[in-house]
Amino acid sequence: MKISSAIQNLQRSLIRKIFEESLNYQNVINLTIGDPDIATPKELVLEAVKRVERGHFGYPPSGGGLEIRKLVAENYNKHFGTSYDAENVIMNTGSSEALACAVRTILDPGDEVVIFAPYYPAYVPLVEMSFAKPVIVDISKTNFKITPELLATVLTEKTKAVIFCNPCNPTGVVMSKDEISAICDYLADKEVFILADEIYNRIVFTDYVSFGSFPQIRDKLIITNGFSKSHSMTGWRMGYTIGPKELYPYFLNNSGFTVGSPAVLSLEAAKIALTKFDDLAWLAAEYKKRVDFMTPALKSLGYGVVPCEGAFYLFVNYEKISGKDSLDFAIDMLKQVQVAVVPGKAFGTEGYFRLSLTVGVEKLAEAVERLKNYK
Ligand SMILES: Cc1ncc(COP(=O)(O)O)c(C=O)c1O
Repeated sequence: MKISSAIQNLQRSLIRKIFEESLNYQNVINLTIGDPDIATPKELVLEAVKRVERGHFGYPPSGGGLEIRKLVAENYNKHFGTSYDAENVIMNTGSSEALACAVRTILDPGDEVVIFAPYYPAYVPLVEMSFAKPVIVDISKTNFKITPELLATVLTEKTKAVIFCNPCNPTGVVMSKDEISAICDYLADKEVFILADEIYNRIVFTDYVSFGSFPQIRDKLIITNGFSKSHSMTGWRMGYTIGPKELYPYFLNNSGFTVGSPAVLSLEAAKIALTKFDDLAWLAAEYKKRVDFMTPALKSLGYGVVPCEGAFYLFVNYEKISGKDSLDFAIDMLKQVQVAVVPGKAFGTEGYFRLSLTVGVEKLAEAVERLKNYK
């Protein structure tokens, strides 16, 4: 029997592929998956468990319930100068589910969605699973900048949405206020949704503005975010969507019929994260230390490094070192020196690899020593 053509055509995640390949080698320094080495704060874990022990263990409300939705809105307003309230927010099972719900809510078969390469790999299959068409726009040759002029060349009558990832995984690029402002002015009168993936916006080393602070796009803006990166809570699967109130009933049905409701322990953990673990300057400082160590070290070996202003990745150009295709290059590097990185191909961009700064400086220094021996 035939299964859905959209599902049948999905490609296997290259990040997973290289990660699994790395398991065949001993003593690998694994810089593939974006899973922080920093643990969820222990007090947060213990308090969440305590709360659930006291009796919060049934199905939570679909969408997470009013208390947490209000906390998320207030927290966004506090940090990013937005003006949201509980009715703008829905809690999801990771920002992965937030993205899936958002995409499924707005897309019809045949719609086009603009995605900038290098991109977070899930965007493309998510769009394809709605039988819509990803329109990939390469920004690797234009300094990773997105402008209204560029948008004007790719928007068509079929364009339903444009996806922005800011700060960007995999490049670490943070869009400036002027850059976002110009894009928002351009899109303000277009019948196009703006999907802003802001999951790394508590890990920034430069001025940062949220798409949510631009009133001219408020009716078409859907923000996805979560606790995986800000609170090192990847395994808790806790994310959220912020969008126009009118979309909330659709998000709620979409999520409610998919996951029922988010997990009760994770909802409690999120409430604690927002109220008691909201000072995250130390986290950004730790990642910045890693960026500042690794960037010059790689440059001194002849690699090109995209300046990282946020998130915890380095996007590295290896074209002066090797002419190999990025998958062959990553596998070769793994074989020769047991350093595992993700090929640029996974993000739609050849000639690069991504390195996750999810190990401390000592381990990164060891990776640099190994790279010195890579030929
Ligand atoms: C840009 C981006 N968006 C979304 C996600 C999904 O995160 P989660 O489902 O853990 O919230 C990730 C995870 O790596 C990511 O890098």
